[in-house]
Amino acid sequence: QTGARVQRLPLARFTTLGVGGEAEVWFVATHEQLAEAMSAPYRILGGGSNLVIADEGVPERVIRLSGPLAERDLTPDPDLSEGDALVTGWVGGGVPLPGLVRALQKLGLGNLEGTVGIPAQVGGAVWMNAGTRYGEMFDGLHTLEIATPDGLQVLSPDDLRWGYRNSGIPRGHIVTRVRLKLQRSTPEEVLAKMTLADTARKGQPKMKTPGCAFKNPGGVGAGRLIDEAGLKGTRVGGALIAPEHANFIVNLGGATAGDVHALLDLIRQRVGVPLELEYELWP
Ligand code: FAD
Ligand code: EPU
Repeated sequence: QTGARVQRLPLARFTTLGVGGEAEVWFVATHEQLAEAMSAPYRILGGGSNLVIADEGVPERVIRLSGPLAERDLTPDPDLSEGDALVTGWVGGGVPLPGLVRALQKLGLGNLEGTVGIPAQVGGAVWMNAGTRYGEMFDGLHTLEIATPDGLQVLSPDDLRWGYRNSGIPRGHIVTRVRLKLQRSTPEEVLAKMTLADTARKGQPKMKTPGCAFKNPGGVGAGRLIDEAGLKGTRVGGALIAPEHANFIVNLGGATAGDVHALLDLIRQRVGVPLELEYELWP
């Protein structure tokens, strides 16, 4: 069997917010299946941890990386590894980031410990250059393999203009696999750094959410600005601006995409500084 598995499914179950209607989901396990899936209008779905999807769903195909594209080979590449600097085999874009970060800790391999607690897939986290002030995805990348409508590209991070929450990879290009660039350390030392990054999350809500709504505009954080505008605890339908941290909108149960959009509009009206959305709104 060579074709991708295709199923019409509610997207809510693939998101951390738990909102979103149906679409045709293409589970692709090989590069050939991916090329076929990309032959008509498509979107790529990772861990769904940064998405607000409409209750009507989306008309495009929704691609999900599975099988070998969601597996990881952490064996050091002997030709590329030297001394304390280690380069792994291929890690699929569909690999869940939290399990990867835990595995690296047990192996005593550093560089990605700052991304602990980010409920993404590797591909989505690379696409956004997800991170915290303790580190980001591009700290641990050696090679990226990217599927484009014109074929596969193999890039080095130096080929991209990446920065805060931005990889420079064009929308619609799909991170299929990466090789990680890691630092040999000890499990204890990696754990100590992970604990620091984890502690910085203590004030974040534990409910269904797509993470921070807005990027920090530089200087004062977006959370503080929304808080100072007096918006903590504001509720529209089933969506609430979290009392714990004002840059998080949570689903109290039964929230619609419209409820979340209404809160985002309200925040933009009330906060004096222009804020750039971190979430992605589908469609
Ligand atoms: P999705 O939400 O599925 O998609 C987001 C975007 O990435 C979409 O444009 C999608 O098309 C694209 N994408 C997905 N997979 C691929 C791929 N393989 N190739 C190309 N593009 C792709 N973010 C931070 O940066 N720091 C944090 O500390 C942080 N904390 C969070 C805490 C919580 C509780 C939650 C829910 C979210 C948090 N986030 C954080 C936000 C989120 O995890 C990141 O934005 C992450 O990068 C999203 O990755 P994903 O795989 O879930 O992508
Ligand atoms: N603050 C308030 N009120 C609030 C929220 C925050 O006054 O409601 C204040 C805090 O007291 C603190 C400052 O704002 O002095 C910064 O807050 P915090 O330490 O929570 O960090 P943040 O800048 O809000 C960033 C990332 C998070 C990441 C944390 C921890 C962005 C937009 N957010 O949050 O990333 O987890 O640091 O490293 O960059 C995400 O991107 O989705 C995300 C969750």
